[in-house]
Amino acid sequence: MPVENSRLSGFFRHSVKERRNIVKTLAGLTDEQVNALAANGELNDEDADRMIENVIGTMSLPVGVATNFVIDDKHYLIPFCLEESSVVAAASNMAKRCLLKGGFSTQNDAPMMIGQIQILECPDIEKSQLALHQAKDELIALCNSLPSTMVRLGGGCKRIETKIIESLSGPMLILHIIVDCRDAMGANAVNTMAELISPEVERLTSGRVHLKILSNLAAYRLARVQATFTAKELSDDGTKENGQEIIQGILEAYHFALADPFRAVTHNKGIMNAISSVSVACGQDWRAIEAGCHSWASYSNNQYSSMTDWKLDEDGNLIGSIETPMAVGIVGGASRVHPTAKANLAILGAESAHELAGIICAAGLAQNLGALRALATNGIQAGHMKLHSRNMAVSAGAIGDEIEIVATRLQGHVGPKTQTTVQKILDDVRLE
Ligand code: MEV
Repeated sequence: MPVENSRLSGFFRHSVKERRNIVKTLAGLTDEQVNALAANGELNDEDADRMIENVIGTMSLPVGVATNFVIDDKHYLIPFCLEESSVVAAASNMAKRCLLKGGFSTQNDAPMMIGQIQILECPDIEKSQLALHQAKDELIALCNSLPSTMVRLGGGCKRIETKIIESLSGPMLILHIIVDCRDAMGANAVNTMAELISPEVERLTSGRVHLKILSNLAAYRLARVQATFTAKELSDDGTKENGQEIIQGILEAYHFALADPFRAVTHNKGIMNAISSVSVACGQDWRAIEAGCHSWASYSNNQYSSMTDWKLDEDGNLIGSIETPMAVGIVGGASRVHPTAKANLAILGAESAHELAGIICAAGLAQNLGALRALATNGIQAGHMKLHSRNMAVSAGAIGDEIEIVATRLQGHVGPKTQTTVQKILDDVRLE
């Protein structure tokens, strides 16, 4: 279950410990989960050693929760794990600005992943392709003979597709197995199925099977999220006129991303600020998610373009939407092993991979609006510098009380706020 209310006014004013306790109460976390969040080195050597090879230690990043998210009429606190300031604040701020029209709504595909089998050296490639289609029921049944919970729960291979592609190594017959992964991300099951049926594929095609591997372009596992932002909600001063001006600026910024891949990649990086950090926080394979998102941003538009869509409705409200592959799971993988990932999933209360996919995309949409709104108004640095100035002070060598003094002076500094500026401020402080 997600939380009862994600509107936590003044949440940022509490200490880290107080915030943790508030979230504990709201999300009904266990002491063990709270301890995982509180421990700076929450993964012990043994657990870490089981996850990858040659482990020498672990590395921590902050986890912050974004507030104000209402998705499909449910309130969520969304954990982000990242190092960049302003991201969590911007997402929470934008999530608040679509509440009048009900928050975010989702419409996701079923959790279908694609496994690819590459077949080479077919004596008659069209005949081999036909043979695969004629044997489709047998191939699907063979995939589903895998002893797997996913299959027992009604998932498993549902259909196959084939295509012939030209390549530098000559023509290739490609077989896709389309697998319903239920609540798993599914890479292991799909790869195992692809390997399992390969001998039979070779027999049917008289070809040689080469690669057998999942595709991260999860084109049948798209998550879709939409939200409506009124002009008043998007304004600085509560007036419709000011909001309309801001909306105009947001649309101009979006049209830039639509028209220019050099801008689109930065626009999408802003979206991934949320998608990747929520994915990391929840123990997902964020590299797979990133690969899927960026490839879809090219594949679906015929050139690399925006992952989001922004337009006006007939009343002048801003409608934002995102459609992107979202290969996530709540069973298997680090989501079931890493203590903090488990605690973060408990904060979200997502009961299915489907629900998690919608939450991650809603965070991405809000994040994009936060960046576009900032860029179209005061510029990105103003918000960024509030927290970042403390990091800059520390990088310059400030310690103890110096950190706050240098950061405050840096924020008040007129002109570019570079590391050289901070160094000069610190030197001045030390001379006083
Ligand atoms: C910075 O992390 C993200 C932005 O560059 C995104 C954007 O330009 O839209 C601000």
